[in-house]
Amino acid sequence: MLRNVPVYRGLEVQDRERLIDDVSDAYTRAAAAIRAREAAETEDDSIGPTSLEPVEIPEFDELIGIDESVYRQINAALATGKQHLMLYGPPGTGKTTLAQLVSGVLHGAYAMITGSADWTSQDVIGGYQPIGEGNVRFIPGVLLQKFDRPLIIDELNRCDIDKVIGPLFTVLSGQKTTLPYRTDVSEKNSPAFVILPKPKPGTAEHEFAPKPGWRIIATINSIDKAALYQMSFALARRFGWIYVGIPRDLQYFLLAIMRKSELIGDESEPDDDIPLTRIWRAVNAVRVIGPAPILDMLKTVHAIEPGINFLRAPNAEEATAYLDGFYMYILPMLDGILSKGAHTIAAEVQSALALDEKGEESRTLNYRLVDLAV
Ligand SMILES: Nc1ncnc2c1ncn2[C@@H]1O[C@H](COP(=O)(O)OP(=O)(O)OP(=O)(O)O)[C@@H](O)[C@H]1O
Ligand SMILES: [Mg+2]
Repeated sequence: MLRNVPVYRGLEVQDRERLIDDVSDAYTRAAAAIRAREAAETEDDSIGPTSLEPVEIPEFDELIGIDESVYRQINAALATGKQHLMLYGPPGTGKTTLAQLVSGVLHGAYAMITGSADWTSQDVIGGYQPIGEGNVRFIPGVLLQKFDRPLIIDELNRCDIDKVIGPLFTVLSGQKTTLPYRTDVSEKNSPAFVILPKPKPGTAEHEFAPKPGWRIIATINSIDKAALYQMSFALARRFGWIYVGIPRDLQYFLLAIMRKSELIGDESEPDDDIPLTRIWRAVNAVRVIGPAPILDMLKTVHAIEPGINFLRAPNAEEATAYLDGFYMYILPMLDGILSKGAHTIAAEVQSALALDEKGEESRTLNYRLVDLAV
């Protein structure tokens, strides 16, 4: 039974030498096997995220007036295996909604976090946390907890980008990252946690690997241009950058939205720009804003004056409702504009709403806009 088990007699010189040779042989064979396994791991691209079935992102009914270039570029990014997407553009153009809808098509479920200045890599990647009785343990952050589905990082510009996703950087560039945390804090020889760049079946306790559905879809509000410079080129290069602008035809967008919400009939087709289009256009000439604040203004006007006809110049009460909506949702977006711009907007709003030039409301409008200007 013990035929294949070598027996060494420790008192014999020859046997001791044989033992040393055998042990050294065994080490050499084991080391070669480990190297071969590691090579197989790094070369194995077959289960990478890009091998998922290609999915075509359709135009979404929920969003109106999104330029076709947006869908074309998203689909091109996906088709060429670009895993991570960056949706950027002016405020309120539907970036967050789009990120959610795209994630929905690609995976169904998603995780979403909103950028904040006090974020740390502990929140995103994880870190040691007390677990009672004086002990600490590595607790994974949101990214590692939800490594199986798209992660939407909304308003990425609001956090220190390199600091927060820096630890992820090697993963984004296809390499393994070793985290400065061990599986057993009290045991200095216990393995450190690692993040593997690609899916791996049967990960060990100390390994985190993305599942094929994982990707980052981030949004950036491009008003905050400084934010773009905060991100290193090396990191920026890992993303497909897709610009989500304002609708090309503002009037068409507004009429489509109003028809959809049955605020106007199907056949209504005004010849000239309606008041809301004029106001939005005047604002955009000074600072570009997306549909979201305009839609909020529209809802406000409708809530105050339910019988209003949005297609014609308002009467005095209706004009007051427009101003309420303007003050509530448009004015806060205009902080810090130049005073020349403030005057232009005031003049156009006044004309679009047929306000009395010398009346109280015109004065207030002028005053409030100029007050925001620098
Ligand atoms: N093109 C659009 N069509 C229809 N609704 C839109 C459109 N753009 C924005 N909205 C609506 O406006 C609201 C806000 O949009 P969303 O939050 O997605 O914009 P955002 O670009 O992420 O804004 P921000 O830059 O402020 O983060 C949503 O309810 C969305 O449905
Ligand atoms: Mg958003």
